[in-house]
Amino acid sequence: MDTPPVDIKRGLEGVIFTETRLSAIDGDAGKLSYCGYDIQDLAAGASYEETAFLLWYQRLPATTELQMLSDWLRANRRLPKVVWGIMHSLPEQATPMEALRTIASTLSMFDRSCVHEEIGGSSLCRSVSLTAKLPTVVASFDRLRRDRPPIEPRPDLSHAANLLYMLSGEEPNPAAAQALETYFVLLADHGMNASTFSARVTASTLGDVYSAVVTALGTLKGPLHGGASQKAMEQLLEIGSLENVDAWFDRKMDTRDRLFGFGHRVYKAEDPRATILRKMAQDVAQRTGHTQWFDMSARLEERVRAHPYFQERRIYANVDFYTAPLLWALDIPLDLFIPMFAIARIAGWTAHLLEQQRNNRLIRPRAYYVGPRDLGFGDITEREPLVEAQPEAHCVAGRPANCPAALEVPPRF
Ligand code: ACO
Repeated sequence: MDTPPVDIKRGLEGVIFTETRLSAIDGDAGKLSYCGYDIQDLAAGASYEETAFLLWYQRLPATTELQMLSDWLRANRRLPKVVWGIMHSLPEQATPMEALRTIASTLSMFDRSCVHEEIGGSSLCRSVSLTAKLPTVVASFDRLRRDRPPIEPRPDLSHAANLLYMLSGEEPNPAAAQALETYFVLLADHGMNASTFSARVTASTLGDVYSAVVTALGTLKGPLHGGASQKAMEQLLEIGSLENVDAWFDRKMDTRDRLFGFGHRVYKAEDPRATILRKMAQDVAQRTGHTQWFDMSARLEERVRAHPYFQERRIYANVDFYTAPLLWALDIPLDLFIPMFAIARIAGWTAHLLEQQRNNRLIRPRAYYVGPRDLGFGDITEREPLVEAQPEAHCVAGRPANCPAALEVPPRF
């Protein structure tokens, strides 16, 4: 029989399972770097393509090398024809994140261009292919659901500018394209966050790039991780105006509700990405003249910073908080916020997959069993049902309300 573990880490907090050369986070100092380069410098000077090069090759590119990678990405933006049919057949109520997860998975069946390369090379080739295609999937799905024809990618535009172009069909404003590009750089990698960890778990089984990215997409979507950016915007929409912020905040404190866009497992100081995004959100708001959402965010953050509850717990705005007013000001639809995060983070997911492959060991932790032991199996007829049989409507019909109550477990934070 197992001896009880000394300390169960339910969230794997503080557990170090591997070495990495990708990103370094100092949670107490609020510092982040990719492969040794401070995030502030990268945000100020690097393109998304340059950042992807840095993560994939673990060094910055020379001019010709950056051109090579940019060309490689641009050449891979188009989707195989057959994928259009599948995209057309998605149900009306499909969310962009569901569509992205489904199409990313589908693409694996139609991407055979990398199969003849050696093991590591084929993973990089697939990483490039998928990184290039995610923006096309998101923009095309968004247009199709609005009864507009999808727009072909433009090879003369950068990764970020091309995405804005494919969404709107118009020449992107250079300042907006630059803001989105900086957002992509800021979100490209972040240590062993939940989606990256899940991608590495899949990679550790010798799973392929597509499987790892689909795993990561599913993990990113949750509101405690990448889904928080959408939730943060929903909070602002619910508040409605600057005058309502204080009353809304007081109500939330009374009910002890969790505020989305605040708190972080690793940062116990301000998230350095939030510092940069705050300034970007303010600049975009001032440039467009629509300062309402930024002003509301700033006031909400002010209240959080001044409140002992958050001070005692060292809770600050995280990356998702100022993402909300920034993407909103860039006219990105609310339910594209998480896909935007995914479009940025795929460089990090795939860089981690490559790193995992280079020094792999199956990731397989353990759980401490606390359930009953040595029960007699017996005959089914001897078991008492927990609920009476409901022949017309039972849980197989998919309605949780009709399932045995004992099987419904409410989610916990
Ligand atoms: N609002 C209110 N209280 C909070 C918040 C919040 N946003 N975040 C943490 N707390 C409180 C918890 O209730 C807990 O209080 P207690 O000590 O009285 O029980 C304490 O702070 C510690 O919180 P934990 O949940 O233990 O911290 P953990 O490291 O597990 O959580 C997390 C990190 C999940 C990000 C959390 O801060 C949270 O839920 N934030 C809101 C969701 C969000 O913005 N997620 C995005 C994170 S960034 C990213 O993934 C891209």
